[in-house]
Amino acid sequence: MSLNYVSAQEAAALVKNNDNVGFSGFTHAGCPKVVPVEIAKRAEEEHAKGNPFKIGVFTGASTGDAIDGALSRAKAIKFRTPYQTNKDLRNAINSGEVAYYDLHLSQLAQEIRYGFLGNVDVAVVEACEVTENGQIVPTTGVGILPTICRMAKIVIVELNKSVPQKLRGLHDMYELMDPPKRREIPIYEVQNRIGLEYVKVNPNKIYVVETEKDGDGSPFAPVDEITAKIGENVADFFVEEIKAGRIPRTFLPVQSGVGNIANAVLSAMGNNDGIPRFEVYTEVIQDAVIEMMEEGNISFASGCSLTVSNDVLHQFYNDLDYFKKKLVLRPSEISNNPGVIRRMGVLALNTAIEVDIFGNVNSTHVNGTRMMNGIGGSGDFTRNAYLSIFLTPSVAKDGNISCIVPKATHEDHSEHSVKIIVTEYGVADLRGKDPRSRAVEIIEKCAHPDYRPLLHEYLNLGVKGHIPQSLDSCFAFHKALLETGSMKNATFSK
Ligand code: COA
Repeated sequence: MSLNYVSAQEAAALVKNNDNVGFSGFTHAGCPKVVPVEIAKRAEEEHAKGNPFKIGVFTGASTGDAIDGALSRAKAIKFRTPYQTNKDLRNAINSGEVAYYDLHLSQLAQEIRYGFLGNVDVAVVEACEVTENGQIVPTTGVGILPTICRMAKIVIVELNKSVPQKLRGLHDMYELMDPPKRREIPIYEVQNRIGLEYVKVNPNKIYVVETEKDGDGSPFAPVDEITAKIGENVADFFVEEIKAGRIPRTFLPVQSGVGNIANAVLSAMGNNDGIPRFEVYTEVIQDAVIEMMEEGNISFASGCSLTVSNDVLHQFYNDLDYFKKKLVLRPSEISNNPGVIRRMGVLALNTAIEVDIFGNVNSTHVNGTRMMNGIGGSGDFTRNAYLSIFLTPSVAKDGNISCIVPKATHEDHSEHSVKIIVTEYGVADLRGKDPRSRAVEIIEKCAHPDYRPLLHEYLNLGVKGHIPQSLDSCFAFHKALLETGSMKNATFSK
């Protein structure tokens, strides 16, 4: 039987007001690019006629502008989960216009299966191949694709002709059974494959939209002095851990978070002769991983998406035969699975917005209120890694914000999970330390020198208890920022 080919406009017309729509992809990688824009246009047309039109949006993680940007500007999102990085959507979330459920990425597929988020009415997925018997081969990001394809009433496949069909074989598609039928995930080494190269759905529910649209892969910022120093500090720390016998000479799989800092840290590891060739078990594979694979510093990478700049993506396509032997893309419930992360002894590197002197980390909410992006996969890895490391510049906004504070205004990662903190000034090792010793370590090794006296003053206010946290003054840094424009003006009362 032949598949049903439609235009992007016709596909968008299949989506109704109030539908829940699951999109493929993870970051801009693997996201549909033309159908969501048509859905946004439809919403605008309906709104102009005075009709309601909003949809619930589920994705693997953040998306390209075609989904979160276009739909939020069209005021077409009623509900969004689990992660975003788009400025228009962020504003809509913080103004209360969009309901946002900030969730550990590994848990979304299961929460959808359990029905906590309602039905999946429509799945819109990007593919490099779709066959007449219903095999769908994703492109460069997987996310929740297997679950939404299986559960949706309608699957709209954006067949992207600019992505080589030869990508088939790169993916490892596997969906978990829910308890009590769940078994262990048989991934014992990073390169193990456990599933299929594709997902298969009933072809009767597939509508195909052809496109050639390129993704949003803009280049990473060049490494600056601060990120380079953070990277060097991480690399030197790992070398010492190998010498101390706490990391094996063959190393352990590395997870590195999103963004420029994570990218710079990996590059620094590649430049350090004391670090052996290593493997990556992560969610987002960025430019540095691909470059380090070509240079021989990384031997294998398992992830959920290839979040690379367009130049690196085209280089990847040109060398596909090489990379298919060295890289696998999996659904987020596998790439971020807590059991596999704990089993493999992953070294987790994530970035913080602020860290408090007792080791609690805020990754999501500026001043405890304004959502930045979301927890993403940082919790999946931090809670379960062998070593959970947080990276942050010591200060933000021209030094008026200290990223080391007396108390984090929102806690995504607690003192019980966070083991190492790294800034451009050094490495705080929190392992085996009580709260007061952790505080001294963090202030002395990581805080900016301008803020060290203030942080010591806070620690020495004389508050009794296991954690000397002053309920009157713990947010003095944040209050000073709001009232005077700088945390440097903080004053404490006991
Ligand atoms: N208070 C207020 N703003 C702060 C801040 C603080 N303590 N620390 C940083 N910022 C601002 C920066 O100034 C910057 O602002 P700008 O965009 O106006 O320049 C912005 O936050 C981003 O900070 P930056 O230092 O560039 O870091 P980043 O781009 O690496 O982002 C996170 C940091 C924490 C927002 C990002 O890593 C994130 O969303 N993490 C959660 C999800 C995650 O870890 N995923 C990976 C799991 S695999």
